[in-house]
Amino acid sequence: MTQKKRVYVAMSADLIHHGHLNIIQHASSLGDVVIGLLTDKAIAAYKPLPYLNYEQRKTIVENIKGVSQVIPQETLDYTENLKKIKPHFVVHGDDWVKGVQKDTRKQVIETLKDWGGELVEVPYTDGVSSSQYKDAQKKLGTTPDLRRARLRRLISSQGIVRIIEAHNGLTGLIVENVKVMEKDQPVQFNGMWMSSLTDSTSRGKPDIEVVTTAERVKTLENILEVTTKPIIYDGDSGGLAEHFVFTVKTLERLGVSAIIIEDKVGLKKNSLFGKAGGQSQDCIENFCAKISAGKKAQVTSEFMVIARIESLILEQGEEDALKRAKAYIEAGADGILIHSKSKEFTEVKSFCEKFRQSDKDTPIFVVPSTYNHVTEDDLKAVGVNVVIYANHLLRSAYPAMTKVAEQILKDKSSKNTNEMCMPIKEIITLIPAGD
Ligand code: SPV
Ligand code: MG
Repeated sequence: MTQKKRVYVAMSADLIHHGHLNIIQHASSLGDVVIGLLTDKAIAAYKPLPYLNYEQRKTIVENIKGVSQVIPQETLDYTENLKKIKPHFVVHGDDWVKGVQKDTRKQVIETLKDWGGELVEVPYTDGVSSSQYKDAQKKLGTTPDLRRARLRRLISSQGIVRIIEAHNGLTGLIVENVKVMEKDQPVQFNGMWMSSLTDSTSRGKPDIEVVTTAERVKTLENILEVTTKPIIYDGDSGGLAEHFVFTVKTLERLGVSAIIIEDKVGLKKNSLFGKAGGQSQDCIENFCAKISAGKKAQVTSEFMVIARIESLILEQGEEDALKRAKAYIEAGADGILIHSKSKEFTEVKSFCEKFRQSDKDTPIFVVPSTYNHVTEDDLKAVGVNVVIYANHLLRSAYPAMTKVAEQILKDKSSKNTNEMCMPIKEIITLIPAGD
């Protein structure tokens, strides 16, 4: 009996369509089909994280007629899997001759030469528009479960997770949709920060925990309704441990991915006031008890409780910050946020480097509002996982609005504000009615 030939097909298989089936069908006419299913990490290296996680995508692909086996492909590059399997054929759509996959294709051809394998290119299926599929995917929206899990997926698959503040539905939509193109690839924000500062300020109130959790949840619901990206909730001090457990349950149920609580007691003020704000740091024991209570209250494995360390803000020194980080993680924290109001990156950099000497894995979050010359590459280099741009949408909106209001007062007419405002035609179509 002659052995069947081995055929290798790599794919992300996020939203399966007839184009995928066409390729698999062609591949199975050549032999036994092994699918190299790209992991989240492999996909995140060149495009946004897929809608479905690896296991979900695997279940779908395993059940497609003509597929013999599904194995993970850990990078966009095929070489490692090809050397393992030594397939007779690799099958791919002929659309990769140009674009991001051009070099991958070259590498596949080179590798196959080692054992005389052959690349078979199937004509790109007419009528498949990936942008149409992406739009359809967007319309699918999300569920609390999918959204909640997404932050952990991003942290484990992406170099650095990029988060920006949102304080209402409109700013949520900005975070959801804004993108710039860089080398043919879209660059976007990965999720939203529900800042206590901007939620309070946009209500005309100070950032002192005076806005109740119920009011904050209302803002949250407005954002949830119109977006799909993960949300990190600024939980201030977390309040009493007895209250904190309810906040955790509420946020988790709604699909929030993480709450960050800061180790402060008494009247909470914004950290950027520093020591002058007259704020006190909680003792390690109390704060650990609060973290543990929150962790016990959650029901899913994905929700994250992040401990925010205020030692640098309150001038308690790096040693204290490191000691607290260790204690909070032992108490169950899923990550730490090291905050600083220094204009220099030095103290956060030094903390991260020391912390990473003994802890390679626990995610580090930072809020570079004052040391904002720092770049995402600088942060990545010292082991930071999540960067939060904490207040920029509100800080940019307020001066713009004030300027327009002043102009109208000066002129007793709004004619001169035309240049400062978006056209009426654009504002009335900015949010289209549902179709
Ligand atoms: C917030 O955005 O509310 C924060 C970050 O907690 S900071 O304003 O820097 O304290
Ligand atoms: Mg805050």
